[in-house]
Amino acid sequence: MNDSLRKLAAPHADYKGRGADYAYARPDYPHAAIDLIPRGLGDPARLVVADVGAGTGIGSRLLADRGARVTAVEPSASMREAAEPHARVIFRDAAAEHTPLSKASVDLVTCFQAFHWFKPGATLGECRRMLKPGGRLAVAWNRNVPDDEFLADFRRIVSKARPGAAPGNKHRAPVQSLMSDPRFDHVRRHKVPHSRALDLPGLIGYAQSKSYVPREGQAHRQLIADLRALHGRWADASGEVHFALRTIVYLAEAGAPRDMGQSQAIARTRLPETCLKMWDGSKLLDCYGQPVAGRGRTPFLTSTSRAWLWRIAMPVLS
Ligand SMILES: C[S@@+](CC[C@H](N)C(=O)[O-])C[C@H]1O[C@@H](n2cnc3c(N)ncnc32)[C@H](O)[C@@H]1O
Repeated sequence: MNDSLRKLAAPHADYKGRGADYAYARPDYPHAAIDLIPRGLGDPARLVVADVGAGTGIGSRLLADRGARVTAVEPSASMREAAEPHARVIFRDAAAEHTPLSKASVDLVTCFQAFHWFKPGATLGECRRMLKPGGRLAVAWNRNVPDDEFLADFRRIVSKARPGAAPGNKHRAPVQSLMSDPRFDHVRRHKVPHSRALDLPGLIGYAQSKSYVPREGQAHRQLIADLRALHGRWADASGEVHFALRTIVYLAEAGAPRDMGQSQAIARTRLPETCLKMWDGSKLLDCYGQPVAGRGRTPFLTSTSRAWLWRIAMPVLS
């Protein structure tokens, strides 16, 4: 990637030197999540995919295993170098905001565990440019199961190593951008249970694969000592600790470009993430693409999000 293109991208996260830990210890994605991503797009073996922020290609290879031809777009040399080769995956040094892929050249754009690093507006525009009409965008994250005591213990240790640096819920803002982007239709969300078992070297590698975790000095030494103690507290008889995860997948269809007037009125308003809504140009849709019919007839919306929805929807609709 040349310097002028680099400037167009978000300053990408510090994955320098972390590729090996990442490839060794990061969780993959469950088969059920990978299967639902191309569903309805035809034979997966005929699909052309761009996987942006591909890292070491964990998601790229899972899609390629189903027969798809994947271009893995990844700006970090360390991540690309740690990638296990796959016959149907080609790596390109580029940012999500500006890829070398041609206009309308791919059936599917995927983005695993990475969308929160991008400039959302520029990336969504680039995804729409790359996608063929009727193509699909899939954005996925592995998230910790809330209230899991081991995970809370692990998070506390990792946050202590660099206070305030963990991304936390930074995926929410990009999701809101997707929800309100008029270039994409029929946004919906799926949750798939997932888990990851790691031995002690895996646990240390997993912590070290995080972009904000120190890799040297006193904070790093303390982190390793804390992780050893954590492993001692939580490992099962086979020496493994268990991460309870769920994979959240957002799917959206590449819609025809349309008048942005009313859609922008909604896009400018920050919504709680629970208020999953879409504007299809003539009516508001819920997270399953169904028209929002009226107060009280949308059981999946919380009362707070319903209140938000109507506060924003009524001025637009009336
Ligand atoms: C948490 S990793 C996820 C990697 C991979 N998709 C996976 O599922 O394992 C985030 C990746 O996004 C990449 N990244 C950060 N900023 C980027 C940008 N602006 N464009 C493309 N990739 C970016 C990082 O280099 C890193 O490899």
